[in-house]
Amino acid sequence: MNDSLTIALSKGRIFEETLPLLEQAGITPVDDPETSRKLILDTNQDDVKLVIIRAADVPTYVGYGAADVGVAGKDVLMEHGGRGLYEPLDLKIACCRLMVAGPLGREIKGKRLRIATKYVKSTQRFYADRQEQVEIIKLYGSMELAPLVGLADYIVDVVDTGNTLKANGLAPLEHIADISSRLVVNKASMKMKHARITGFIARLKAACDR
Ligand code: ATP
Ligand code: PRP
Repeated sequence: MNDSLTIALSKGRIFEETLPLLEQAGITPVDDPETSRKLILDTNQDDVKLVIIRAADVPTYVGYGAADVGVAGKDVLMEHGGRGLYEPLDLKIACCRLMVAGPLGREIKGKRLRIATKYVKSTQRFYADRQEQVEIIKLYGSMELAPLVGLADYIVDVVDTGNTLKANGLAPLEHIADISSRLVVNKASMKMKHARITGFIARLKAACDR
């Protein structure tokens, strides 16, 4: 049986924060994705490869089995829905909160709120649970701009220090969910490469608990 392991990671925060955990689990990449143009990185283990993709694509690659395992933010997983995936481990990295944010003291009455976000499903669920009808405007980034230029009344985005909101005259208003990054595993890989993947999960868990 082919017990190779393909790990899907995104550049930047997730790669940087996963790297020390992988190293404690015995896996060290040969190239640095910030300087290399390669999308498949070799590691110190011949049968372990890293694939470098956009953060929002990690659940798709792992769900379809193009990677056996991956690391994705809970915000991304809530949007994806988790089809084809197990989520066995909270890595407790890239921690932040999904929040409604906007200008302080804005009074909006008698009209449907407009919310700009890249988190369309989580936003729909949040307002549906409150039985509030809102108009959701899908954006791909720089959400903070939307209330400043009249595109939306509020935004839904991840907040960590709150500095980005503050720098744009906005404030966190309502908490939707606590977010951290999770290890996700393809369901078929878990069956076919059971010993390999459970061993990997156990080593990563030990690294997280350290
Ligand atoms: P892309 O760069 O492809 O547009 P992205 O901006 O979502 O994607 P990152 O900024 O690397 O990618 O974020 C990856 C994950 O890290 C997010 O899905 C979220 O879970 C978490 N995250 C995002 N922003 C912060 C932050 N400011 N502080 C802590 N964690 C964050
Ligand atoms: C995220 C998010 C906010 C910011 C919040 O953006 O979209 O803009 O972090 O963090 P803070 O509360 O600590 O200021 P990121 O830095 O990931 O850039 P991005 O827009 O490229 O995703």
